[in-house]
Amino acid sequence: MEETALFALSNGLYVLGAKDKDRYVGSLVDAVSQVSIGPNIIILSCMNNSYTKQTIEQSGVFSLSVLSQKTEPQVIANFGFQSSRDVNKWDNVVKEIKDDLPYLQTAMAKIRARVVKKEVFPNNTLFIAEVEDAFEYKKGEEPLTYYDYRNGFKEKVIMAYQSTKMEEKVQRANEEASKTTHNKKKWVCTVCGYVYDEDVPFEDLPSDWVCPLCGVGKELFELREA
Ligand SMILES: Cc1cc2nc3c(=O)[nH]c(=O)nc-3n(C[C@H](O)[C@H](O)[C@H](O)COP(=O)(O)O)c2cc1C
Repeated sequence: MEETALFALSNGLYVLGAKDKDRYVGSLVDAVSQVSIGPNIIILSCMNNSYTKQTIEQSGVFSLSVLSQKTEPQVIANFGFQSSRDVNKWDNVVKEIKDDLPYLQTAMAKIRARVVKKEVFPNNTLFIAEVEDAFEYKKGEEPLTYYDYRNGFKEKVIMAYQSTKMEEKVQRANEEASKTTHNKKKWVCTVCGYVYDEDVPFEDLPSDWVCPLCGVGKELFELREA
């Protein structure tokens, strides 16, 4: 069998959203299809290890934000390359909440659906769901497809992901460095050079406290590298 022939099936790309106990979760999906009109029935396929899938099993409802060609690669990296088990993904994007489900503000259409049936396969779970709401269709915008993803967009997503991870690393290193520097800083008398190194924090000393060496007040002390 030529597995690549299946690449010719055209799928869009969507950010799937759901409400966990006390936060919103989500993932990037392509396996969504409308299979009936009146009632509007869609099928969504989620990988069995997806946290969003587990959440939908509990809540029974989910949101879909339809991605357009204008989508930043960062958005796909955020929802597709990491799990809601570790990250609050919706904190990293501009979101809007409607009826307690999250949507990407920039989506070219927004859909809310309720699960009516579930079918479990070895790797995936299929949710058959009825559309409860569909809104904010931005006519004129073009959908981003899985085909686009495979043909060039994926490399941009990988670069965006790597640069975010690098930025996080640098930020963590800076925070660590500033903590260490801060720990090394001491209050020093600008008149005689006495270094305050007692257990009581300098800030908690009474306002009439004076330098034990030269007798000047607290106001003449400076926080300096010791
Ligand atoms: C282009 C692309 C398409 C994807 N399509 C699906 C999909 O249709 N269903 C699915 O469950 N996961 C899909 N994934 C994988 C999930 O987005 C990914 O495993 C995510 O980390 C799951 O997050 P979660 O654990 O928070 O649910 C896709 C990922 C990418 C990058």
